[in-house]
Amino acid sequence: MVIEKMEVTSCKSVAEIEKLCFSTPWSKASLENEFNLSYAHYFCVKEQNQVVAYVGVHNICQEGEITTFAVHPAHRRKGFGYRLLKELISYEKKQGIKLLNLEVRQGNIPAVSLYEGLGFEKVGVRKGYYQNPTEDGILMTLHL
Ligand SMILES: CC(C)(COP(=O)(O)OP(=O)(O)OC[C@H]1O[C@@H](n2cnc3c(N)ncnc32)[C@H](O)[C@@H]1OP(=O)(O)O)[C@@H](O)C(=O)NCCC(=O)NCCS
Repeated sequence: MVIEKMEVTSCKSVAEIEKLCFSTPWSKASLENEFNLSYAHYFCVKEQNQVVAYVGVHNICQEGEITTFAVHPAHRRKGFGYRLLKELISYEKKQGIKLLNLEVRQGNIPAVSLYEGLGFEKVGVRKGYYQNPTEDGILMTLHL
């Protein structure tokens, strides 16, 4: 397993994984636009030179906000998600980030369990934030 800075050329593969994982996926174009933003940072995991997991973050004023995070369905429960987020946390610390925030569907047990295992705490709820299907969003935070 290799964790590396994502390159813009990986946006096509990532957009395909997004479609497999989310009802409102990021498009290839919207992902490519992230590479024009100085505060956006993306990492991916590759296996046999193929992207199998990725995470993005926006760093603004010592706070990081996770934008998207997923592991290809065929590669889950192998520790990729955990190790990728551990790496992101370590990167964020080095960047001087003090707080890492994210939002997750209330019923997304795999993701919530993973985040809690890394020390994220539930700090708020956004009622009906998600669509297709409508669901509350849970705000989670990790103090670095
Ligand atoms: C959430 C997700 C990223 C987890 O990735 P993963 O690589 O399969 O997770 P890992 O193998 O690293 O598991 C780490 C921990 O997460 C939790 N976890 C992962 N999958 C789980 C599941 N299906 N059920 C319950 N807990 C789960 C467990 O606590 C696990 O630790 P354990 O293996 O010691 O039990 C993956 O399921 C995914 O891509 N889901 C769809 C996209 C998504 O929901 N992204 C998050 C949006 S906020």
